[in-house]
Amino acid sequence: MKVGILNPGMMGSAVAKTMVNSGHDVYWISAGRSDATRQRAETAGLHELTSGAEMVNTVEAIVSVCPPHAAVDVAEMVVEAGFKGTYLDANAIAPRTAHQIKDVVTPAGIDFIDGGIIGMPPTEPNTTFLYLSGQSAPAAADWFSAGPLETKVIEGGIGAASATKMCFAANSKGYNALLTALMGVAHELGVLEHVEEMWEHYYSGFPAQKKRAVKSVAYNKAWRFAGEMDEIANTWEDAGVPNGFYTAAAEVYGRIGHLRESEGEQTLEEVLNEVKKNQ
Ligand SMILES: NC(=O)c1ccc[n+]([C@@H]2O[C@H](COP(=O)([O-])OP(=O)(O)OC[C@H]3O[C@@H](n4cnc5c(N)ncnc54)[C@H](OP(=O)(O)O)[C@@H]3O)[C@@H](O)[C@H]2O)c1
Repeated sequence: MKVGILNPGMMGSAVAKTMVNSGHDVYWISAGRSDATRQRAETAGLHELTSGAEMVNTVEAIVSVCPPHAAVDVAEMVVEAGFKGTYLDANAIAPRTAHQIKDVVTPAGIDFIDGGIIGMPPTEPNTTFLYLSGQSAPAAADWFSAGPLETKVIEGGIGAASATKMCFAANSKGYNALLTALMGVAHELGVLEHVEEMWEHYYSGFPAQKKRAVKSVAYNKAWRFAGEMDEIANTWEDAGVPNGFYTAAAEVYGRIGHLRESEGEQTLEEVLNEVKKNQ
């Protein structure tokens, strides 16, 4: 089968590689993308196309793996380009956004599948899982049969795969936002070293591990985690649960997202200064 990937980022290229491993021809669109994306596409053995129009005339299915805040725009681009095949959105979006995308693509004659990815970009089996839901989910699972990305088809229709992803990320990425804010407060109040001392006392190794994570996420991922926290906040709201944790988490990541444009990773102090800065 011929499949498109929008776009081959760190995760998108790993998803695409699994489809290549499974015997499919996988295509990407180079227009507007960076050298890093080109490099990943070439390494994964993807075929280059230069426009959305070219892609929709080439492939039977498209998989969207992009920053969550861009998921609706990517779906709209695909519709505007005249696509008529199967569209799998595998982004970290709220069930409400998955339904919004379904409402964008279905009237155009596109078959929509909801997806959500849990884990790091996989190089080995049984490490990373693509949840799939919706009527055509079992068929989509076959696109990834050779791995290393694993698939799990679940009941519940459109929104179930996204809901699973939202609840998982609420812990991992939400917890990192909480720690970033907490360290920002402790730093501002001049007590971070004492808090760290007690963390080390009660949970050996915790401060070093979490300081590394806070710095790394600030530089590499915060720019796209703000949108993901907004999606989680919407998920919480729709479930009738207070969502202030996640609107605040979005603000924390929003304040540090620009750090990816720096030359390299910042010190912890530089990150914490950005978190507490009056905006
Ligand atoms: N990385 C992970 O560990 C992980 C884990 C689980 C789920 N996911 C999910 O996978 C998705 C993407 O993650 P990733 O790791 O592939 O991110 P990434 O490495 O940052 O790559 C993002 C890709 O999307 C492109 N992109 C950037 N801005 C865009 C926009 N406005 N519209 C369309 N495309 C855009 C980028 O292209 P250029 O940079 O060339 O512009 C790049 O090819 C997210 O929904 C995320 O939640 C990732």
